[in-house]
Amino acid sequence: MSDLFLKNVCKSYEKKQDKAQYAVKDFTLKIEDGEFVIFVGPSGCGKSTTLRMIAGLEDITGGELWIDGKLCNYVEPGERDLSMVFQNYALYPNMNVYDNMAFSLSVRKVPKKEIDKKVHETAEILGLESLLKRRPGELSGGQKQRVAIGSAIMRSPKAFLMDEPLSNLDAKLRSQMRVELAKLHESLGTTMIYVTHDQTEAMTLGTKIVVMKDGIIQQADSPKEVYDNPANMFVAGFIGSPSMNFFNGRIRTYAGMPVFETVTGERLEIPGSRGKVLEEKYRNKWVILGIRPEHFLTKTDGSGSCLTGEITAREMLGAESIVYLKTAAEEAAARVPVETPGKPGDKLTLSADMERAHFFDGHTNENIFYQGGRQ
Ligand SMILES: Nc1ncnc2c1ncn2[C@@H]1O[C@H](COP(=O)(O)OP(=O)(O)OP(=O)(O)O)[C@@H](O)[C@H]1O
Ligand SMILES: [Mg+2]
Repeated sequence: MSDLFLKNVCKSYEKKQDKAQYAVKDFTLKIEDGEFVIFVGPSGCGKSTTLRMIAGLEDITGGELWIDGKLCNYVEPGERDLSMVFQNYALYPNMNVYDNMAFSLSVRKVPKKEIDKKVHETAEILGLESLLKRRPGELSGGQKQRVAIGSAIMRSPKAFLMDEPLSNLDAKLRSQMRVELAKLHESLGTTMIYVTHDQTEAMTLGTKIVVMKDGIIQQADSPKEVYDNPANMFVAGFIGSPSMNFFNGRIRTYAGMPVFETVTGERLEIPGSRGKVLEEKYRNKWVILGIRPEHFLTKTDGSGSCLTGEITAREMLGAESIVYLKTAAEEAAARVPVETPGKPGDKLTLSADMERAHFFDGHTNENIFYQGGRQ
């Protein structure tokens, strides 16, 4: 078990540093012992590069990597005591499951009895006992991935590094393995650093989510904080599905109340102290209003924060529906109860829960009411 500290870590794949484009830039993050840290972000934002630098598979261009209080920039991968699990299993095809799992300890000349005990213990945790004699070619994708994770556990690493380990699995296996991974983390208590594209994996597994864009950390915080208190518009739009709805507009005073006025003139009242702050600091200035799909209410009591639009599409999710609405200003998605009437082509009026709305500076795209962060 261990803690990690990355300080201003940078990576450039180019030789000439003066013209360097950075794949990862000024990456500073503290990972406490036992944390489950998730790296998320769009393709090419530097997630794998960061993980590979931690593993020692990629040189660090600048900055410092500390593992357990030891500077590790130049420590060989094999000496870092970390186990990496890849997207494509990396098993030895000619060895059976038992030998695949035993391999790392056999080469270290650990006594056979000890290896045998550990293989069986690990196989039991992962439900692999009945498969120990099979070769990788005789296993399903999910079983192969469990063997790969088993091999990683066998090394008793200081931390697990996983790069999209479930992305080759179908939806059902993915969700099963997700639960397995959560249990595994719970029982081993080992630090995990995990790269994914998958929102659900990020939100359910992580104790800390690191949202990246263009090689730069946008926010690193608990799943709840990242969702409820996004640092900027990028994080707000990236986390959550369907995405947060954004409306361009200005802060005005109307009938003595602070309002957000869309470019097409719809007015939404801003209650409470946030309304006062916006009126003071942003009157007549450009602001972007963000409303999550679940923060539209179908009850419209004429409270002055309604939006009307035409339904363009409707998705049934079982317990609820997603309604896509073309309002005068923007397209919007709303999560509504299934019994809400309306089919494509119909008009629908929704009221926005303005207490839970987000406001972003029209120029910097920063969240105007962002409250600090844990690190
Ligand atoms: N070996 C390499 N040589 C040159 N550039 C590279 C190399 N590996 C990655 N890059 C570049 O570095 C940037 C970050 O790549 P990285 O693989 O870390 O992204 P990622 O976030 O893991 O993306 P994905 O979600 O697609 O896996 C990208 O712009 C990529 O093109
Ligand atoms: Mg990657």
